[in-house]
Amino acid sequence: MKEFARKQRDENRIVGLVPTMGALHPGHLSLIKQARQQCSSLVASIFVNPTQFGPSEDFAKYPRALPADSEKLENAGVQCLFLPEAKDIYPPKYSTYVDVEGLSERLEGRSRPGHFRGVSTVVMKLLQIVQPQFAYFGRKDAQQAAIISRMATDLNLDTEIEICPIEREADGLAMSSRNVYLQTGDRQSATVLHRSFQAAQTLLQNGSRDALSLQSAMHRVLKQESRAKVDYVEIVDAETFEPLTHINRKAYVLLAVKFGETRLLDNMLVDFSDTGELNVEL
Ligand code: PAF
Repeated sequence: MKEFARKQRDENRIVGLVPTMGALHPGHLSLIKQARQQCSSLVASIFVNPTQFGPSEDFAKYPRALPADSEKLENAGVQCLFLPEAKDIYPPKYSTYVDVEGLSERLEGRSRPGHFRGVSTVVMKLLQIVQPQFAYFGRKDAQQAAIISRMATDLNLDTEIEICPIEREADGLAMSSRNVYLQTGDRQSATVLHRSFQAAQTLLQNGSRDALSLQSAMHRVLKQESRAKVDYVEIVDAETFEPLTHINRKAYVLLAVKFGETRLLDNMLVDFSDTGELNVEL
């Protein structure tokens, strides 16, 4: 992999990396589409990274679909599929980890201790191996994206971290490899997430900037669906992930909700133009 990437750089190609854990869906393909616009050599990695799964999480049953994935990548114009094995990434005596302090302990970090240490370590390793000019991550995992951006800045990496918009199903459900776990009834119920964001969006558009009012409105909508077990609904500063009481700068409205055994994440990005105009991205 290193040799291939070095050759690409020597031939003055702009190398883009799309790191994934496979089970590719249109959300991943949208990352590749954006990469194609900026890069002349595309590398995608598929590696179900054991260190980002807790002992009781779904590492063993995480969806794996290599033949279909490699066909999708080829059709999308990816030149190189990097498929390391766990023993290559974490050989015996492996003992170096990257921890992005503070940011990694909040929200998802609280619910999944050690998760972000696994994510930042593997992403750091992938970036070291490929040394791409650009690397692409989805905004659906907003906290992961913020942690990776922080790590790239803090460790003076030469890679630009690109955060791409969320791809949604026709009924608004954010695309995720874990959606395949949803039982039929839960899949239908999960549309409540999008409706809760729409309630918050309406309040924002009507001028409310009070985080508590938005959170209450979202909880009211989520309560209408008895299958939805809310882990959190939070409004945070988009860079630090510190909670906000008043939404007056770039912010994420984030939620984590369980349907049966499946925990779904989604978010809405709120921003303001220089003239103070509200911009909401679902
Ligand atoms: O978002 C993912 O699929 C994973 O967390 C990533 C970034 C590929 C690291 O394993």
